[in-house]
Amino acid sequence: MHQDELKQAVAQAAVDYITPHLNKDSIVGVGTGSTANCFIDALATIKHTFDAAVASSEETASRLRERGINVLELNSVQQLRFYIDGADESDHQLNLIKGGGAALTREKIVAAVAEEFICIADESKLVNTLGTFPLPVEVIPMARSYVARKLVGLGGEPIWRQGVVTDNGNYILDVHGLEITNPTELETEINQITGVVTNGIFAMRSADILLLATPEGIKQLD
Ligand code: 5RP
Repeated sequence: MHQDELKQAVAQAAVDYITPHLNKDSIVGVGTGSTANCFIDALATIKHTFDAAVASSEETASRLRERGINVLELNSVQQLRFYIDGADESDHQLNLIKGGGAALTREKIVAAVAEEFICIADESKLVNTLGTFPLPVEVIPMARSYVARKLVGLGGEPIWRQGVVTDNGNYILDVHGLEITNPTELETEINQITGVVTNGIFAMRSADILLLATPEGIKQLD
């Protein structure tokens, strides 16, 4: 099975999972990336069964609107039933690395608000220990060098993602060489560096459910 077919299958599985819980007042949070894009396409087929979506990036907001789905600002929303998004890595406890698409900060905010966070991925994303995928860290531009030095002090090798500016006007450092044995501790430690907006470890708010596409079918971890 081709990777695109796995992404489409897991996106459809997420739609099947949420559909019985949606009503005309429901608001759905939507992530960013190629798997989230497949989810948006599948979500469009049930767009008359819920009220609106909240997007984790400008790109996602555009794709939702193009498919006729109403997009709301998070600040105007009281309750978000679900957040559905991909990941760059997940461990077996559903701690994640996210931010390969540079949308980590808004993704983390929308995930924090949601009642239930459903992560969708193909099986290549499941790992025993996070850290093979370089950890994205969003930084205020003037703090880039300072934060990079601090990340070296934590044992990482930060590389500036050249040419990328986030939706919030900031830069991304991708930190190589970390073996993340305690995701909650490292998430907290990096977030305490002055100039860091947030980092791509999702451990304090991990996923509630991981839907994993395999050639044998969809597996659910929770
Ligand atoms: C974007 C993300 C994505 O969820 C992550 O990069 C996975 O993307 P894809 O579904 O394209 O593999 O965190 O910031």
